[in-house]
Amino acid sequence: MFNTIFSRKSIREYTGEKISSEDLEKILEAGQAAAVGRGDYESLLLTVISNQDLIDEIEANDSKIMGEESHPFFGAPQIVLISVKPSDTEPSNVEFASVGCIAENISLAATELGVGSCLIWGAIRRALGNEELLKKFELPKGYFPCGAVTLGKTNVKFEAKKNRHQIKIKYID
Ligand SMILES: Cc1cc2nc3c(=O)[nH]c(=O)nc-3n(C[C@H](O)[C@H](O)[C@H](O)COP(=O)(O)O)c2cc1C
Repeated sequence: MFNTIFSRKSIREYTGEKISSEDLEKILEAGQAAAVGRGDYESLLLTVISNQDLIDEIEANDSKIMGEESHPFFGAPQIVLISVKPSDTEPSNVEFASVGCIAENISLAATELGVGSCLIWGAIRRALGNEELLKKFELPKGYFPCGAVTLGKTNVKFEAKKNRHQIKIKYID
């Protein structure tokens, strides 16, 4: 497990090939096993988007908003969109955190299988204002897309590396 944790990294280069359905299933199961605030699993939904036209449309929306050509999914052939049905008008900190836990589990499972993944929040947030695009996510009423994880084959090598990032730690004895 520690090897996988220290090997995980955001992959932004994909071959364009989809992963096997067996690997996809394992990765989704790992997402489903995540910790979720209040144990409210019913309020969460994973949507696997493998439709290239829809992926292109999200990217086109992003390019329009960014004012320059944008490829927020880096050529990944699939994304897992993570949506939540907020208990209030907008998702709360607990609901966003639950989405993050699911995304991390997906990313760790992908790493374990040598599959490329990257958490994508920006392009999903920027899609929220585009009603036509949102309809294409086919979300049940009341669901709100919070983030996504790219999935795809990659030639990038995973290598367990500690201390790649520094989050400060303070001890109070
Ligand atoms: C909540 C969250 C949102 C993120 N959104 C994006 C994103 O929109 N686009 C992107 O390329 N990376 C995104 N990332 C990936 C981070 O940039 C990346 O995890 C961080 O720079 C550390 O690099 P590493 O994942 O390779 O360890 C996101 C990560 C998190 C946790």
